[in-house]
Order: sequence, then C-alpha cells, then structure tokens
Amino acid sequence: MIKREIKSILFDYNSLAELDEKYQELIQKAKEAAENAYAPYSKFNVGAAVLLENNEIIQGNNQENAAYPSGLCAERVAIFYANSKYPNIPIKAIAVTASTEKGFITDPIPPCGSCLQVILESEKRSGKPIEVLLYGQNKITIADSVIQFLPLYFNKEMLK
Ligand code: THU
Repeated sequence: MIKREIKSILFDYNSLAELDEKYQELIQKAKEAAENAYAPYSKFNVGAAVLLENNEIIQGNNQENAAYPSGLCAERVAIFYANSKYPNIPIKAIAVTASTEKGFITDPIPPCGSCLQVILESEKRSGKPIEVLLYGQNKITIADSVIQFLPLYFNKEMLK
C-alpha cells in the first residue's frame, strides 16, 4: 500500500481592501447577482461573476424551479452564458457568494461538485487556470485554479 497525500493551496483574506481593484469589482458583481437570484425554495441566493480575458464581467445566479432538479446553480448559469457568448475568450476568474434572509454569508462557500466540474472543463478548454474567489463577510478565500478544489478531476483524456 502506498499512501498518497494530496494538498491544496488556498489564500484567505480578511477584507476586500486587500484585493486588486478588478477583483473587488468582480466580487461586487457576484454580490449584485445574488440579489437577483430566483431561489424561492431554498431561500439561498447565490451570485457568481465571471471575469473574461477581454475584461468583460458576466453575472449569473441560481435559478430554481418547482420541479427541483430543473434548476441550476449560479456558477453554471454564469459559466455557460460566458462560454455561449464568447466561446473563444478564456475565463480568468470566477467570484461566488451567497445571501440568506440574514444577509451575506459570513464564511465563504465553495462551488458544488457539479459546478467545480464545469469550471474545470472551461479551464481545460482554454488551457488557462481560472482563479476562484469565494466571498464571505468575514473571510475571502482565493484559489489560483479550480484544481485546488478538485485535485482528482475527471477530464476528457480519460475518455480515450
Ligand atoms: N447553489 C448554487 O447556486 N451554487 C452552488 O455551488 C451550491 C448551491 C444553489 C442551488 C440551489 O438553488 C441553492 O443554492 C441551494 O442548494
């Protein structure tokens, strides 16, 4: 038996002021997107903002449905829209946050497994890492690539 240790590196910040202006703006756009979420069932409003290499920001939020599985997470709404509008422009970063009736979350939440897989496919498609910025009021967590959250990622090479 060989033990394998898999490490991830994340960076935690205490305040938005510690980030570049563009990343502050990206997080602001994710917060703005959360406010427009359609989440009447979970009441968990998630907002995502995708920064493209052309500096454009695309927003998305969770869209729920009375037939529960028909909804979609904020991250996938934003990523799929970005890739449908600009199939050849790499995504540089994605910011994610959420709010409840108590206000914005205090600790950041990572994207769900399906969203991580979709962000990963975009990263592989462009060949450039996508920075992941997770905003909570008390902490902002940043990863230099989605692979930090999904080190044993399934990808198209495995289909051969
Ligand atoms: N949700 C997201 O939008 N992104 C995630 O990564 C996790 C979960 C949404 C789905 C559902 O509308 C609500 O949050 C509660 O799970």
